[in-house]
Amino acid sequence: MPGIKGPSDYSQPPRHPCLQINSKEPFNAEPPRSALVSSYVTPVDLFYKRNHGPIPVVDDIERYCTDITGLIQTPKKLYMRDIRMLPKYNVTAILRCAGNRRTAMSKTQKVSGVGWDVSAIGNAVWGGAKLADVLELVGIPKLTNSTKSGGKHVEFVSVDKCRVEENGGPYKASIPLSQATNPEADVLLAYEMNGEPLNRDHGYPLRVIVPGVIGARSVKWLDSINIIAEECQSFFVQKDYKMFPPSVDWDIIYWSTRRPQMDFPIQKQLVDMQRLEGAEESRE
Ligand code: MTE
Repeated sequence: MPGIKGPSDYSQPPRHPCLQINSKEPFNAEPPRSALVSSYVTPVDLFYKRNHGPIPVVDDIERYCTDITGLIQTPKKLYMRDIRMLPKYNVTAILRCAGNRRTAMSKTQKVSGVGWDVSAIGNAVWGGAKLADVLELVGIPKLTNSTKSGGKHVEFVSVDKCRVEENGGPYKASIPLSQATNPEADVLLAYEMNGEPLNRDHGYPLRVIVPGVIGARSVKWLDSINIIAEECQSFFVQKDYKMFPPSVDWDIIYWSTRRPQMDFPIQKQLVDMQRLEGAEESRE
């Protein structure tokens, strides 16, 4: 894709020294617990960072665009100036990694993947265009379940190189077309986070935000949007981010027996405020 590339090497942007690093390459890190309770909106530099490859580099923002293709009549190249011409919305939404608290879960039964404590979660104000408005530009009306040519899902493709999971291919995920075209679902193509342009870690120049759904579907560094008949067949949709009971043996797992995870269950964490902030001890 012109204007942006997914490098193979890990030349990393600078990061806050307080972050607890769970994996260096790819970079996965979470803030101390105190960062989550000290402000309603999580500061960008303390927001958790979840990656499966090196962080992409934008070398020419004027040439950067997202291709909209697939089961539609009129494919389109969407430049940043096209997106900025659409109405801008600010949506306050939590992003949470489905692997949050994996370290604690692994005490009951080993769960594969990066180990996270409790802070792979954050709340931000995301600014951008509604995906429902963007899809209207390619002839898909609001509240559509299926296009004339049978498109029922919207696939988001990135440019990052996921060496382990996708053999060097990009990160991909999808959501149902009905959710993407519902303006009330607030699905965004976001270019701002907390009032500033997205930074490299969080998807500069453009990412998807799907409120109320596990973070894995909010694809960063957007390269293309494909309207497809079946849900995305990527590793991250079909062979990861699915919920199995603790009785399951990870060595003989039948991935197709479970739906890709979308909603996330509420998690509770006791926070010792006295230890965190010197405040009075909190009770459950
Ligand atoms: N998008 C791309 N392109 N590559 C990724 O590795 N990780 C996903 C999602 N989008 C990912 C991605 C996961 S698992 C999560 S939880 C969120 O991004 C994390 O977003 P953040 O790093 O901005 O907090």
